[in-house]
Amino acid sequence: MAENNPFPGENNTGHFWDDNLRELQNPPPRWWMIGFWLSVAWWVLYSILYPMWPMPFETEDGEGYTKGILGWTSIKEYKQGVEQVQAVREQYDAQIADMTAEEILQDPGLTQYTLASSKVLFGDYCAACHGSGGQGNPGYPVLADDDWLYGGNLTKIAESITNGRKGAMTAHASILTEQEVDTLANFVVQLSEGGAGSEADWELYNAKGCQACHGAKGNGVLAELPNGDIVTVGAANLTDSIWRFRPGGYESAKHTILYGVNQVGVEGTRDAVMPGFAQLGQLDGKLTPDQIKMLTVYVHQLGGGQ
Ligand code: HEC
Ligand code: HEC
Repeated sequence: MAENNPFPGENNTGHFWDDNLRELQNPPPRWWMIGFWLSVAWWVLYSILYPMWPMPFETEDGEGYTKGILGWTSIKEYKQGVEQVQAVREQYDAQIADMTAEEILQDPGLTQYTLASSKVLFGDYCAACHGSGGQGNPGYPVLADDDWLYGGNLTKIAESITNGRKGAMTAHASILTEQEVDTLANFVVQLSEGGAGSEADWELYNAKGCQACHGAKGNGVLAELPNGDIVTVGAANLTDSIWRFRPGGYESAKHTILYGVNQVGVEGTRDAVMPGFAQLGQLDGKLTPDQIKMLTVYVHQLGGGQ
């Protein structure tokens, strides 16, 4: 072949196509060779440092691969990561244990930590009823607004979580005439739409004892204390457009008036029970005082205070 080479002196392999298309034997460029040998060296080094080669036999601790002299494993790395996170958390948790909810709220860093960790707690213990962002569910109150049945300051929120809540409203089916129920239901709807209600409506409302729980103004507030706290028995605010029991409106209001709330033995009564979370310690799905404190801060921030 060589003597037939039409390109004498050229370092080709002697393979030609189409007369002059040919395969040369030039070495790859130097930079490319350096890169190649470096990557081989890197690979050898890596296989010495890190776990690499599967082995047909089991090594001392029972696993069939070379360990690498650094002793690195992904499980070890994961465990170290978890330990680091726990060390950080323990610091925060220890601080929180010694603080009141008010004090936590004054510290932006701790507040942020508290909100982040209680989000998980809220998801586990509260979201089933109150919705994942506290936005409420049919039959369960919204926590992410400033409309409170029992008050939205830290003390009241902590009380709600610790002891639970169970509002009670008398069933009026046997107390009021059909006409009176109709008038009151219409009155309540009017109030919820921003109406003022007629004098006769208010008279009936007062005469039938509604004001004893829903307050003289119908907003669920029985008294306002000098420090701004409100006194309530958990009766709904009838003067806002938020309906405690869905779907709301005339029929819904009528139903509540007729059958009341949490009335034992009354068929059709509204169910409104919030479990207390402090009775038994954590084993029974109950919360520790610190967890309640953190959730108090969380709910307070959801609702923008009281
Ligand atoms: C089984 C359902 C249920 C679960 C779980 C639940 N709640 Fe409630 N929660 C209720 C009901 C119902 C009410 C209203 C009680 C009433 O009407 O008297 C309520 C009321 C409240 C109130 C008072 C609201 C107000 O307007 O004053 C707060 C605060 C509250 N819940 C927080 C929580 C937190 C925090 C958790 C989780 C630790 C939680 N709830 C878990 C059903 C639940
Ligand atoms: C013993 C106290 C009490 C009395 C008396 C009472 N209520 Fe209530 N009422 C409540 C409570 C508590 C709730 C439910 C709050 C909760 O659990 O969310 C409620 C809820 C309601 C609701 C439902 C509101 C909503 O948003 O879905 C209406 C309507 C209502 N009451 C009207 C009346 C009328 C009208 C009267 C007078 C005939 C009256 N109530 C008397 C305590 C009372």
